[in-house]
Amino acid sequence: MANIPSEFIDQLLDRVDIVDIISPRVTLKKAGKDYQALCPFHTENTPSFTVSPNKQFYHCFGCGKHGSAIGFMMEFEGMEFVDSIETLAQMAGMEVPNQGNYQHSNKGKNLYEVMDKANRYFVNEFNQSEFAKNYIQDRGISAETYQVFQVGFAPDSWDGLIKYMPTTPQNDLMQAGLLAQNDNGRIYDKFRGRLMFPIQDKRGRVIAFGGRAVMQDQKPKYLNSPETPLFHKGKELYGLNIARKHSNAKSVIVVEGYMDVIALHQVGIKNSVATLGTATSEHHIITLLRSYEEIVFCFDGDNAGVEAAWKALVISLPVYRDDKNIRFLFLPDNHDPDTYVKEFGQEAFQQQMVNATSLSEFLLTKLKESIDLNSIDGRAKFIDKSKTYVNDLPKGQFRKLLLEEVSNLTKTKVDFILNPKTTNIQSIDQWTPIRKAIAILINQPNLVLNFPKDLAFNEIKQNGANILQEIVEFCHRSPHISSAVLLENFREHQAFSHLSSLATVSLDLNEEQMQLELKDIKKHFEKTIQKHKIARLREKKAQTELTAEEKIELVNLLTNQIT
Ligand code: GTP
Ligand code: MN
Repeated sequence: MANIPSEFIDQLLDRVDIVDIISPRVTLKKAGKDYQALCPFHTENTPSFTVSPNKQFYHCFGCGKHGSAIGFMMEFEGMEFVDSIETLAQMAGMEVPNQGNYQHSNKGKNLYEVMDKANRYFVNEFNQSEFAKNYIQDRGISAETYQVFQVGFAPDSWDGLIKYMPTTPQNDLMQAGLLAQNDNGRIYDKFRGRLMFPIQDKRGRVIAFGGRAVMQDQKPKYLNSPETPLFHKGKELYGLNIARKHSNAKSVIVVEGYMDVIALHQVGIKNSVATLGTATSEHHIITLLRSYEEIVFCFDGDNAGVEAAWKALVISLPVYRDDKNIRFLFLPDNHDPDTYVKEFGQEAFQQQMVNATSLSEFLLTKLKESIDLNSIDGRAKFIDKSKTYVNDLPKGQFRKLLLEEVSNLTKTKVDFILNPKTTNIQSIDQWTPIRKAIAILINQPNLVLNFPKDLAFNEIKQNGANILQEIVEFCHRSPHISSAVLLENFREHQAFSHLSSLATVSLDLNEEQMQLELKDIKKHFEKTIQKHKIARLREKKAQTELTAEEKIELVNLLTNQIT
């Protein structure tokens, strides 16, 4: 994690207003002292996303997402911690201190540099390799296109990359996923004799590679970068930054292979992206629906393709939005997009796009499969099968219409009760005093002024007492901070997620009530501490002699017992 001085983060959060950060991205409406909006992180029709200017914190009661302005930028813009801070700092006109131990950020930056350099190596090698250029040209890809995708080539060498980057620490190359190590500890280039497809993030930075076998008997066909600090394959989509740059189409085509994206681009269909050998994830769908009106999943027409499409459909349901479209295109005769456009051309593919199956059609067809709707048994089975999927959909027109369709098909009035979203609403009365105290202080740090910092926390002997102590001490040092600042100071803490979720709890207490609660809690702790001390002294007394001091202490404790 970053070694950006925490004082700087405090100042930054003090300077920016979370409302200013969120409002250009999400339409906020004033509601009392807070703001509300439709949650940008899940689909909903009634607003449960709340932004609190007091706490400088956002929270969605529907999906549970929450955080500070820093967290919002990370979540909404898909930024790393350091990027998020840098962006906010820029907006606030502040400069992120670049002190000696600015490690994480340098490390992140280093890895990007390492990947960038490696990419240049592969592209250079490609340009010098007739073999590689022939291969890609044989596949119908023009120089213009392979340059857009920065197709590269890793020569069949154990140390080509290592030699190209002699000043880069091997550790960095290793971390970037560019080297491999055998059982004897020998280190060598991971990608050898492969056509290289750089995978770029949204900002166009190279974060990973996919390497295609081009030599005889070479296995596996595709070798991808491992997960690295820069690369999480379930999150990334190959070609997304290029699609955004080269096309302003309202829909995006999701295909399976690198070569599919490139071949479509070559024939002028420049709005496709590929998952990276993984199934479509919810993250993928949310990312795409943020920038496109429509997703068209394009799969082979074989069984595997239909299965993959069904998986994508199931994943899509919870994040479906009435204002967006999801469709499915099944290519005939085991074609993939690459072979299809090569055989039938761009227009035929466009026509396939037009005819793509809607999500509802695909869903209903699949549900009706091997069911006889003319029989009562069949209709019952159909209703039962539909239930799971319909209930996965967020409340809205689409869900309603689908229910109507299920009703029509079964000649029955069907109305599934929506699974109420489980939120962690629990009466705070049932909380332990420690949890309550932490929640109150996180919600309003300045209330610590009525709470002693020299309490014998270690004598409380309850879970979380040490965390409470840290928070109390922190708040005493700077009582006039917002919840967000407090939390950002605990980002590294093992209890961070726990603490930040306490910031989202609506305590339903006014300031005075919180003060009273804290007073009660304080008394409870003092009593507990006293009890433990008395018990310990008595135990000792039963075994040996107490010292003179201990005797006095025990008498004092017993005569001043808190009731
Ligand atoms: P070409 O055969 O060159 O046309 O490649 P393709 O892009 O059509 O690949 P294919 O349809 O075989 O596979 C689709 C995607 O799955 C690829 O782009 C890779 O991301 C992934 N993939 C395929 N084969 C492998 C493999 O052997 N290992 C891994 N890790 N991924 C693979
Ligand atoms: Mn292919």
